[in-house]
Amino acid sequence: EKGTYPHYMLKEIDEQPAVLRKIIQAYQDENGNLSLEQETLEAINGADRIYVIAAGTSYHAGLVGKEYFEKLAGVPTEVHISSEFGYNMPLLSEKPLFVFISQSGETADSRQVLVKVKELGHPSLTVTNVPGSTLSREADHTVLLHAGPEIAVASTKAYTAQVAVLAILASLAAEAKGKEIGFDLIQELGIAANAVQTMIVRKEEMEGLSFDFLELSRNAFFIGRGLDYHVSLEGALKLKEISYIQAEGFAGGELKHGTIALIEEGTPVFALATQEAVSPNIRGNVKEVGARGAKSCIISMEGIEEEGDRIVIPAVHPMLTPLVSVIPLQLISYYAALHRGCDVDKPRNLAKSVTVE
Ligand code: F6R
Repeated sequence: EKGTYPHYMLKEIDEQPAVLRKIIQAYQDENGNLSLEQETLEAINGADRIYVIAAGTSYHAGLVGKEYFEKLAGVPTEVHISSEFGYNMPLLSEKPLFVFISQSGETADSRQVLVKVKELGHPSLTVTNVPGSTLSREADHTVLLHAGPEIAVASTKAYTAQVAVLAILASLAAEAKGKEIGFDLIQELGIAANAVQTMIVRKEEMEGLSFDFLELSRNAFFIGRGLDYHVSLEGALKLKEISYIQAEGFAGGELKHGTIALIEEGTPVFALATQEAVSPNIRGNVKEVGARGAKSCIISMEGIEEEGDRIVIPAVHPMLTPLVSVIPLQLISYYAALHRGCDVDKPRNLAKSVTVE
């Protein structure tokens, strides 16, 4: 029930700190260590390469997950759009593990791949919010998101839950290999949950920014590098699906390879700059688009912020910034849709679970 909330989407955005805390609890054993069913852990540890299969927002979470599996656990990982993988399968490694990420567990495009993978005899794991869903029943293993029912068509809390659960899986994979990830993930997830809370409290400010940047816009761009690039894709998807503003997320470095031609006087550009190593480069991109008239909103993080940044998220572990930087983007999209009189929870042409191929 949405209670006093005008929309499920806003309620679900608000639930994110609680969801993150629930996940931290759900994956902790009695000694306070991260833990997972032994069989599931063995499936992950038995793989020489992980193939993530997902669609839409879940695909974007998968892109972040790849960074976790590779950078924290040293497991080579590929992320594939389900509908492409069906007929365009890459060469597989000797011991692949297929990880299906799906909020609903019902996405037909992903199921089609699961059926094929099972025929080939490869192990599979579904990361889903819905116990007993098709992808959960049909895969060898299931890892739950614990996000609670997500009703709004636009996915919000499932995305942050997916990112957090993937971080946990990667950290457990690292541990099994005797690899140190170099930070206390439980503690850092707790810090991230608090940071998410801080951003949610700043709703009014996000509404103001949404109005300021998007009121009269036909289009909008989201740019980032590294982890921020993955979040920029999610920010653009969120905006387009509920506000119908044409939005594109892309890697900052790609600007000069085409997209910059679209920048005109007043074009809104949301630039994510939470990653210290590439922050100067993305700021360089902001100058480039600024010189062509773009209106930029920089989203950075405490500690690496600069004067003029419109949104500064609280400091969190650099690997966990996607959990926090996505919140202002969700809110800005929500208010853009609201101001345009769109049906926020049920955007046109979209269904919550896409059960046709
Ligand atoms: C975006 C959105 C869709 C879904 C996609 C996958 O807000 O809702 O892009 O993410 O249809 O759905 P699941 O995760 O249920 O497989």
